[in-house]
Amino acid sequence: MTLTPSTSTPAVDETHRVQLSDLKMPTRLLLGPGPSNADPAVLSAVSMEPIGHLDPAYLALMDEVTTLMRYVWQTENQITFPVSGTGSAAMEATLANVVEPGDGVLVGVKGYFGHRLVDMAGRYGAKVSTITKPWGEVFSLAELRAALETHRPAVLALVHAETSTGARQPLEGVGDLCREFDCLLLVDTVTSMGGVPVFIDKWGVDLAYSCGQKGLSCLPGISPFTMSSRAIEKLTGRKTQVANWYLDVSLLLKYWGSERTYHHTAPVNLTYALREALRLIAEEGLEARWQRHQTHAEYLWSELAKLGLTCHVDPAYRLPTLTTVKIPAGVDGKAVTRKLLNDYNIEIGGGLGELAGKVWRIGLMGYNSRKENVDTLLGALKEVL
Ligand SMILES: Cc1ncc(COP(=O)(O)O)c(C=O)c1O
Repeated sequence: MTLTPSTSTPAVDETHRVQLSDLKMPTRLLLGPGPSNADPAVLSAVSMEPIGHLDPAYLALMDEVTTLMRYVWQTENQITFPVSGTGSAAMEATLANVVEPGDGVLVGVKGYFGHRLVDMAGRYGAKVSTITKPWGEVFSLAELRAALETHRPAVLALVHAETSTGARQPLEGVGDLCREFDCLLLVDTVTSMGGVPVFIDKWGVDLAYSCGQKGLSCLPGISPFTMSSRAIEKLTGRKTQVANWYLDVSLLLKYWGSERTYHHTAPVNLTYALREALRLIAEEGLEARWQRHQTHAEYLWSELAKLGLTCHVDPAYRLPTLTTVKIPAGVDGKAVTRKLLNDYNIEIGGGLGELAGKVWRIGLMGYNSRKENVDTLLGALKEVL
């Protein structure tokens, strides 16, 4: 039997044809765990006309983006490019490329995103082991050494800036440790890149990823990714194919490497946005940017203390980009976040996982890390409380 085109088409079902007015969205001050407000220069870049993703002008822009990503991450890694997708896609790219079925992956779990790494690594067939810490604490070098001795993994995965807890995992010395135990170091820099010092090469990080919508003040949907020569060796020595076609670095390199041939249609406008976001960081200078984040976080912490509010994380490990504040006894945390949003157009986050109902999460990231934002939030919070 042959299929021939029909001469009559069925009637269109009009049920979902709703008539709407032009899109209007509220303007919010995004002081939660992310997304943060994008820089106005980023918003104007994203609204430019797209050009072809193989246009010579776009290819030149790709080079600018990779160079600036290397600056912000402090790395010479040849393979440094943005993944088309959110931070979780870039997270998946790190694991998908270096993990083969049966490989040992040790994950330091001290918050929500450590659990996500465990889940993902397992899906790529890793033999996953974990070490854990109460949410809000971090691992010492001695604890990491002991765990590497016990588990002898092929990959150690750590979240540098745990957005669910507000704690910063120190990374000095961890790369040396991983070399001693012949394993790769994989680090989540989603809430640190662009706001907190990150030294990919000096710290011996082999695989890292981030996102657009936090410290970079870009937008969700485009996410930095990098891998070292040690990680490339692991990739090229694989016995099995990378199970994820979309995130297979050897395929992506046909586009991001010298060939510049089609792999998937790049999110052209998001790449414009990322280029602008990174350019602004270079204009400000990394050290000035990190200092700005630290200064405004310290101001926030001292003003919170004046309101009688306390932070969840020890100051020695407290992130300047994300602060977890203990919800005082007798206060309905959700009612406060709801009122801040509805009456003041300010978004802050509630707790996740173990910290649900116990903390609020306040983000001061990138463009949003400014004194007037702290004053606006605290003024509103004072009234609401
Ligand atoms: C530490 C951390 N890792 C990974 C992710 C996942 O990123 P995304 O939500 O952009 O997929 C997030 C998101 O907030 C995060 O905070």
